[in-house]
Amino acid sequence: MTNTSTHPSHPLLVSDRTGYPADYQPKMDDEANRVQDDILTKRGLKKRKVLLVGGAGYVGVPVAQYLLAKGYDVLNIDRNIYGHHMAVSGLLMIPGYTYKNVDFADFRNVEELLGDVTDVVVLGGLVGDPITKKYPDESHAINDVGVSNVLKGLDGQGMNKVLFISTCSNYGEIPEDQIADEDYALKPLSLYAKSKVMQEQVLLQNDFDYTASILRFSTAFGLSPRMRFDLTVNEFTRAMFLGENMEVYDADTWRPYCHTFDFGRAIARALEAPRDNIHKIPFNVGGDNNNFTKQMVVDQICKQLPDAKYSIVEGGFDRRNYRVNFSRIKDVLYFTPHYDVGQGIAQLIYALQQGLFSDHDQNPNFYNNRVVSYP
Ligand SMILES: NC(=O)c1ccc[n+]([C@@H]2O[C@H](COP(=O)([O-])OP(=O)(O)OC[C@H]3O[C@@H](n4cnc5c(N)ncnc54)[C@H](O)[C@@H]3O)[C@@H](O)[C@H]2O)c1
Repeated sequence: MTNTSTHPSHPLLVSDRTGYPADYQPKMDDEANRVQDDILTKRGLKKRKVLLVGGAGYVGVPVAQYLLAKGYDVLNIDRNIYGHHMAVSGLLMIPGYTYKNVDFADFRNVEELLGDVTDVVVLGGLVGDPITKKYPDESHAINDVGVSNVLKGLDGQGMNKVLFISTCSNYGEIPEDQIADEDYALKPLSLYAKSKVMQEQVLLQNDFDYTASILRFSTAFGLSPRMRFDLTVNEFTRAMFLGENMEVYDADTWRPYCHTFDFGRAIARALEAPRDNIHKIPFNVGGDNNNFTKQMVVDQICKQLPDAKYSIVEGGFDRRNYRVNFSRIKDVLYFTPHYDVGQGIAQLIYALQQGLFSDHDQNPNFYNNRVVSYP
């Protein structure tokens, strides 16, 4: 079998078999043998190396940590558009990790690095509704043209799997009594989500020579070496911890949430899965127990910070409201999240109590997607 980690440290990281049924091992062995014969032996490579495209961000760094612990080599390319790439400094000394500060939107920068890369995870771009609205030209250049260049350019390069990281924001706004599975009609409301839907179509409508899959992530929460406090759970927890009166707009709107650590687990599951189980198949990534309204998020925070204050404010402008069904990733990849929202909040509170992130106001762009420096 390939990818057997020898990393001795964290049992949660290296031997996370949660949810896999006993009879799934032979299928994973078959998959590992296929990768060995079709990819590694053919190209004279010793082990799988995953290229993280845009992996120096909030999600990318914990994903790299997880994949390294699982025994993959990781090459991360990132343009450091928020001046935040100190976040990878802790990884640089780990054998098997490489970081290059390059722009992926110019595919030549990617192509020249593919020699020993076997698999690709496309994470990079302008992430979120506000930043794409603020920088529509950069958003087009990166999220539309750049990501398309990558997905198309990887065809014919001998890649094994290419995972495109999309978003549950693609569901936009759905009626209260419905829950979106992967076949539910997409209704992207923002420039950000429209670009994601477009790239999903690029993968679904073309027959590239690699195994292509789409992972629609829930809204992220939890710790990361590059924190983002412009995301609901993190933002609310920090503000309420600091004693601010948190103004909560659209309190009854639903959203699914997922911990940064669990994204690494989901990606590893897709990398381990038999090709036919994921090829051209979108997966919602998260868990049914982490569908929350904003009211439920503040309730969780108040449970842990009884003196916290908030007020419900009418007249919000974010129409997104979607509850999501996670049966497919559970049934096909045997993935359920390790952490729930309450546990993520507890970790954030602990970190805040230790004084972490106290430089937030001095370095707002490190902690939030606010000002883009590109190209
Ligand atoms: N954070 C969430 O709540 C969330 C939810 C759903 C989906 N996702 C998806 O997860 C992925 C990662 O999100 P994140 O929260 O880590 O965002 P992030 O903004 O922290 O990270 C994005 C990274 O992409 C890099 N990048 C942007 N343009 C680049 C370019 N031209 N060349 C090289 N690098 C470039 C940035 O420098 C940054 O490090 C994205 O694809 C996002 O759509 C995130």
